[in-house]
Amino acid sequence: MPDIESLLKEKRIFKPDSQFTRKANWNKKVAAEYRKLGEKNPQLFWAKMAKEHVSWFTPWKKVLDWKPPYAKWFVGAKTNVSYNCLDRHLEGDDAWRRNKAAIIWEGEPGDSRVITYAELHREVCRFANVLKARGVKKGDRVVLYMPMIPEAAVAMLACTRIGAPHSIVFGGFSAEALRDRVVDAGAKLVVTSDGGFRKGEPFALKRQVDAAVDGVAAVECVVVVRRTGQDVEMRSGRDCWWHEEMATASTKCPPAKLDAEHPLFILYTSGTTGKPKGVLHTTGGYLTHITTTCKAIFDLQETDVYWCTADVGWITGHSYVVYGPLACGATAFMYEGVPTHPGPDRWWQLIAKWGVTILYTAPTAIRTFIRLGDEHPRRHDLSSLRLLGSVGEPINPEAWMWYHRVIGRKRCPIVDTWWQTETGGIMITPLPSSVPTKPGSATLPFPGIQAAILSEEGEEVEPPNGGLLAITHPWPGMLRGIWGDEQRYRDTYWSKWTNTYFPGDGAHRDKQGYFWIMGRVDDVMNISGHRIGTMEVESALVSHNSVAEAAVVGRPDEITGTAIVAFVTPTGDTESSDALTSVLKTHVTAEIGAIARPAEIRFTNSLPKTRSGKIMRRLLRNIASGDELAGDTSTLEDFSVLASLRESDEG
Ligand code: WT7
Repeated sequence: MPDIESLLKEKRIFKPDSQFTRKANWNKKVAAEYRKLGEKNPQLFWAKMAKEHVSWFTPWKKVLDWKPPYAKWFVGAKTNVSYNCLDRHLEGDDAWRRNKAAIIWEGEPGDSRVITYAELHREVCRFANVLKARGVKKGDRVVLYMPMIPEAAVAMLACTRIGAPHSIVFGGFSAEALRDRVVDAGAKLVVTSDGGFRKGEPFALKRQVDAAVDGVAAVECVVVVRRTGQDVEMRSGRDCWWHEEMATASTKCPPAKLDAEHPLFILYTSGTTGKPKGVLHTTGGYLTHITTTCKAIFDLQETDVYWCTADVGWITGHSYVVYGPLACGATAFMYEGVPTHPGPDRWWQLIAKWGVTILYTAPTAIRTFIRLGDEHPRRHDLSSLRLLGSVGEPINPEAWMWYHRVIGRKRCPIVDTWWQTETGGIMITPLPSSVPTKPGSATLPFPGIQAAILSEEGEEVEPPNGGLLAITHPWPGMLRGIWGDEQRYRDTYWSKWTNTYFPGDGAHRDKQGYFWIMGRVDDVMNISGHRIGTMEVESALVSHNSVAEAAVVGRPDEITGTAIVAFVTPTGDTESSDALTSVLKTHVTAEIGAIARPAEIRFTNSLPKTRSGKIMRRLLRNIASGDELAGDTSTLEDFSVLASLRESDEG
């Protein structure tokens, strides 16, 4: 990949603080030992971690069964994720945790709840019994479409308790997008709420569910949490209220003894083709991966108040809001609303109020706060913070430095963690106790993870050259497939090289072996730390009757990292206009959700194509980010000249 070239020349380096290191779960010596073991014998390393961090009903017969591209971890072992997140904290030597806060939650309007481990256990058992009473059995799929309220965590844990894989659909997705996912997963039951709060206003969820499941026969039941009190229509025979069901449900429900490879959840993510992929994760390996990384990377300890700002609808919300921290017996903080409501200092207020010690967020949020001004965090006491994390996209060194200076007050290590929906847990990251950090670099593979930079042909690329990031050995949290589409699993991740995982990112290593992630190399855009496939937006656009053809690309954006630019050819008799622009933006929002709303729509009477008919995205990307063509979105641009210029080197 000769055209991947890093222009970053970052020289700053930050050494771990000796005081931090001394108290860390993994001190320097332990970290070095594990790194060595992980390199020499990843299976032995992960087996050790599985014993240390996970409670098993039945031990495994074999650590790894690797028949590429299929991996089974902890073969023959039995466990249960909800048991690990709840029951084991109430028993034996750990019984003191009964009254420890498992979840501290604050709603956007300022209401709050503190839920102890014992209480969370009772709620989860109750809801597991509700699911059972509504006919959900081991293996049945349950879709959750919920705001950031504790009931989301309760529902997730209840599913894992009975072995019903959940599929969480981010509340920002549209009814259309929800419907596709409900149908693809063949869900039997949907859990939602009347709505949630955002920017001071209630928004509706139940209404979207009604539109999404209308006519979908597989969905037998919709359970509705009352959150905002807004009017909802309850269809008799199908819909029921959470609080009514819970009132009579028993608090006793033994956890199902599940196979280590039992499906834990499906999570849809964008790919290069139109249809989202249902990434499948299983039980034992996933749990091992996320608990180990929580302990080692976030240095999660008993006294921490840990806040991962992700929504439960994304993988970060699964692994590092709910399952990871709770399995570690930690106190997880959850916040419902937007960062800037009612004022630009809401987050800093929350940190000061609840004494948050660990903050894990995304570069897009950090950049938003930079723009809002230093005075907001400066006004609050952030001295409780002791570690900061970043995830979702490459963090630019200025944002890293601001995070370090203004939020961490130069005292907190920063862990820039690279991973994906498919990897289940963190893959490339500093260890706060022992890896010096460089702003903008995710540093080194986690112990037990083997990564490389390869060429298209699979040859190792010598530092400091850029190439394709590759994971060369299976890892416990890896996806086990794409729901209902085995071929796509093989094609997407395992067809570029032999027995090596292709994540779709470009990267390079520096002289110290540090990894610098340079972003996606495929037709996937990273908007505010979330993947959106160009094809998905294109499909949404052409589904509108005034669009003949559409091509979508990303252009750099100061806040969101990437902004969506759509090139649209209107149908024969359609006039391009500002009105059409806003109609199409609204249409994409309705089809996919606000996250996919194009920032800009440009009308054109032809799209540049290769002789074989492939749209020349590279060219469109240049045009989308080029200054000379920016401006009026309603002007028609004729690409035919540009297209023919490029034809010779593309076709
Ligand atoms: C893609 C995965 C993993 C949770 C959030 C996103 C990009 C993620 C980093 C990072 C540079 C990053 C990659 C990756 N990415 N973290 N620390 N540095 N890039 O999950 O939606 O599955 O997206 O996000 O491009 O492939 P996702």
